[in-house]
Amino acid sequence: MGTLIKNGTVVNATGSTLADVLIEGERIAAVGQALDSTGHTLVDATDLLVMPGGVDVHTHLDMPFGGTTSADDYRTGTLAAAVGGTTTVIDFALQKQGSTMREALEIWRAKAAGKACIDYSLHMAVTDLGAGDGSQGLGEMEEMVAEGISSFKLFMAYPGVLMIDDGLMFRVMQKAAALNALCCVHAENGSAIDIVVAQMIAEGKTAPHFHAQARSPKAEAEATHRAIALADMAGAAVYIVHLSNEYALDELKHMQARGARSLAETCTQYLVLSIEDQMPGESWEEAKFVFTPPLRERRHQQPLWEALRDGTLQVVSTDHCPFRFQDQKELGRGDFTKIPNGGPGIENRLQVLWHFGVNSGRLTPERFVGLCCTNPAKIFGMGNQKGSIATGFDADILLWDPKAEYTITAATQCMATDYNMFEGWKVKGNAAKVFSRGELVVDNTSAPGHFLGAPGRGRFIKREANAGDLA
Ligand code: URP
Ligand code: ZN
Ligand code: ZN
Repeated sequence: MGTLIKNGTVVNATGSTLADVLIEGERIAAVGQALDSTGHTLVDATDLLVMPGGVDVHTHLDMPFGGTTSADDYRTGTLAAAVGGTTTVIDFALQKQGSTMREALEIWRAKAAGKACIDYSLHMAVTDLGAGDGSQGLGEMEEMVAEGISSFKLFMAYPGVLMIDDGLMFRVMQKAAALNALCCVHAENGSAIDIVVAQMIAEGKTAPHFHAQARSPKAEAEATHRAIALADMAGAAVYIVHLSNEYALDELKHMQARGARSLAETCTQYLVLSIEDQMPGESWEEAKFVFTPPLRERRHQQPLWEALRDGTLQVVSTDHCPFRFQDQKELGRGDFTKIPNGGPGIENRLQVLWHFGVNSGRLTPERFVGLCCTNPAKIFGMGNQKGSIATGFDADILLWDPKAEYTITAATQCMATDYNMFEGWKVKGNAAKVFSRGELVVDNTSAPGHFLGAPGRGRFIKREANAGDLA
């Protein structure tokens, strides 16, 4: 006996069709017209879209950063993701300088144990290859790939904390090329930015607004070019995370045209929030929007939308890195360099992108599914298991109500922050029901915002090393 989702419109990245979907156990057993319902539990999806569950490949749960720890742990963060229609996340394990990747992996697996509400995987942020010739660290990269961690994160920002130099980055890229792994890069020129930051503080420019002023789009563009050029030299595929502005986009396009294997994501916030609207330089409240790269001027939004449409950008993620306003952002009152960098968004990605992307006609529903579900699953080596509604795939299924109206507010959200970046926004389009590996884990139609499964049910997903292959 299975669960039969009837009368819905199945939306995949490749097309939409009226079809039934049969779930048996944890998998999709059949997709087709008028499937026999005998013996199955029926779920009526009339007027609903049947989409793959969202895949958010950029989150920071329970992460020590900026003198504190991100506010969502694996329970609250993945629960919020599920309520918003996301069924898989890829979080970042951070290797500490002087420590090993193995240790980082164990720490992050322990954070997830007993808490993850949906399936998750990890990228490994490399900060150190060990003493001597680096062979110990390069060997660990092999071990990570064998563990199913097929993407490595490299920071070109945050000097003294996470930033690595070009030489180390290049060695990791060479090894990644040999392993068919993907290099994810935070592309900002951290050294140049730190000089500007110090100059601003010396001039008494300490308000949150100056966080954004200090990190120019040009610093991101320069690093974007350098990251792709180095990866190209090393023969590696590269994925630029949280690309936020038109200049960086220009560098990406230029390198893509030259044949460099370069992919990139943007994040929800860069598409709909701006310096003019959220950070005009008037109040401490603007600390809520201190993240990195920072918000950009409004004029950068349109090129990002265009790039999502024409395929220059392949993914929309959240870079969910939540800190409470009251006591965590507060650490930087009077000195923006001490404001923990990051913003909450894991719960609202699909709502915001649907409302401003699909409802406005910028994206088709199929492109939306491509950007939020299918492409991230494929690029990160789980495209045979997640990100599509097809026979044999995990039954991670989102019943999406395109007519549901919803007001985003911290008062009812599941994320552990005391604010929401989209506070008070009214959106149309919301998750109605969410299945994770066949289990109904969210029913926003009868128990809005409640998780029906048991924390800890989420599994670690081992990913293939496919060098970001989107085929
Ligand atoms: O401000 C941000 N984005 N915090 C998380 C760390 C990062 O750079 O992605
Ligand atoms: Zn980053
Ligand atoms: Zn991030």
